[in-house]
Parts: sequence; structure tokens; C-alpha cells
Amino acid sequence: MAQARPYYADKSLSAAFYDVVTAADERLAGDIEAYAGLAAPGSSVLELGAGGGRVTFALAEQGYTVTGIEIAPAMLAQAQARLAQLPAELAARVELRRGDMTALDLKRTFDLVICPYFTLAHVPAGTAWRNTFATAARHLPPGGRAAFHLPLLEIMRMPGPPKEMVVFDRPLPGGGRLQLHVLERTFKAAIGRLDQVIEYVERDAAGAVLRRSPERLTFYLTDPEPLAATAGLVRDRDPIPLGGVGDIWVFRRV
Ligand SMILES: C[S@@+](CC[C@H](N)C(=O)[O-])C[C@H]1O[C@@H](n2cnc3c(N)ncnc32)[C@H](O)[C@@H]1O
Repeated sequence: MAQARPYYADKSLSAAFYDVVTAADERLAGDIEAYAGLAAPGSSVLELGAGGGRVTFALAEQGYTVTGIEIAPAMLAQAQARLAQLPAELAARVELRRGDMTALDLKRTFDLVICPYFTLAHVPAGTAWRNTFATAARHLPPGGRAAFHLPLLEIMRMPGPPKEMVVFDRPLPGGGRLQLHVLERTFKAAIGRLDQVIEYVERDAAGAVLRRSPERLTFYLTDPEPLAATAGLVRDRDPIPLGGVGDIWVFRRV
């Protein structure tokens, strides 16, 4: 098994190049509009797993007031750096906090809670999911909605490509390229767990390798409805399909 850093760890290339990889991910097209469609501009939004602020800042630009919670210092630092560059009026609508979505209590409610881009799938699909749903419920008034973007089971089940195959290849700002390979991909159906080791390779403009970093990304998946119900969250509507790889599940606090 390859020696691998956890995804989003300090000095990881998954954190350093998160924006480059995510900006190229067409399967996310429409996610911000989907979240915005759940609450009117001006509403307050709690984002669980805010990362570098891709969704946070896009919603703030549309007039939402957003509190972003992020566990990984390397990702939070990127969001904070972006926040520091914003005009004061926009920055006033964003709050960023280090925190764990499985154990968060801000002692206030929001109009909407969102957990974008498979963030819930980053934590084990049992107690950690239950606790995250409880976090969402704790921060909503009765009738308030929470949206969780989860991968599809059939995508998790797909076999991995050959190790040598370049699955992502893009120019980097300032020259050079970023390439990704999938070194390992193992799905354990009985527990709904996908283990992947994705190798990031940064090359200079001449093609020489500058940095190479295998990084471990684990996803967990189960039926969210029974676990959400334990927190008093019921399904609000049919899941919203996104990019053919996932659904946004929308729950309402009873
Ligand atoms: C795929 S990224 C999504 C970032 C951003 N929401 C977006 O859509 O671009 C998932 C993020 O969730 C964070 N995360 C994972 N587990 C978390 C937890 N227990 N509490 C808070 N954040 C967590 C990761 O560090 C990572 O930054």
C-alpha cells in the first residue's frame, strides 16, 4: 500500500491545488444555484466543510450571510486569505471558523444549512453522520432546511483506472502542469466505504517533476434518510441530481 498523506492535510497537494482541481470539475456545475434556490438572498447560511470557500464566497456575493465551518487548517487558511482580499461590504457577510461539523454548537440558528461537495461522505456513515445531522438540526428553526450533497453508490462502486493513466491534466497558473493518477481504489460494499489513493504530480513548464504526493481520500456512503430522521430531519423533496455523480439531499427540521 502506498504511503499517503490524508487529503487536505498540511502541505498536501490536494489542499494546495484544491481550487485548480475543483474549478475543472464540471460535475459540480449548478451546485451553488441549487443551494441558493433553497433560501432567498439575504438569508443566513451555515456551511459545514467550507474548504477554501468556493461556495461560501459565491453565496456571499449573491447577498447571503455565510458562516463557514472547516476542520482542516490548510483549507481554512486558503479561505481566510480570500476573505482578507474582499471588499469590506462583502467580507462583512462571511464568517469563517475552525470546527468539526460532527460536534458543533454555535448557539444560534440559520435560515439554511448546507454541506456541499461530498463533505458528509468524508466522515464515517454511522455515529458521525448522525452527529452531523444533529448539528444541522441544532442550527435550524423548525421548518428550516439542510442540504447535503452525496455521491451516488454506482459511482463509488466503479473500478479504478490503471495507475499509469493520467485522470486529470491541467496547466497551472504561472506555468507548469498538475497531473493526477489513481494509485488505489477499493470499495467495500458491506460497509459502503471507498478508499482511494490519488497521486498529485506537479511538473514544471519543461515537464520535470517538481512535487509528487500520493494522498488518501476515503468516502463513506449509506442511506441518509434514517440517520437524518434520528436528528428530526425529514426529506423535504426528491434529491436534486448533480452532474451525474451525486445528489443534493434536502431535509427539513420537523
Ligand atoms: C470536498 S471539500 C468541500 C469544500 C467546499 N464546501 C466546496 O464545496 O468546495 C470537503 C471539506 O470538508 C472538510 N471536512 C471534512 N470533515 C470535516 C468535519 N468533520 N468538519 C468540518 N469540515 C470537514 C474538509 O477538510 C474539506 O475542506
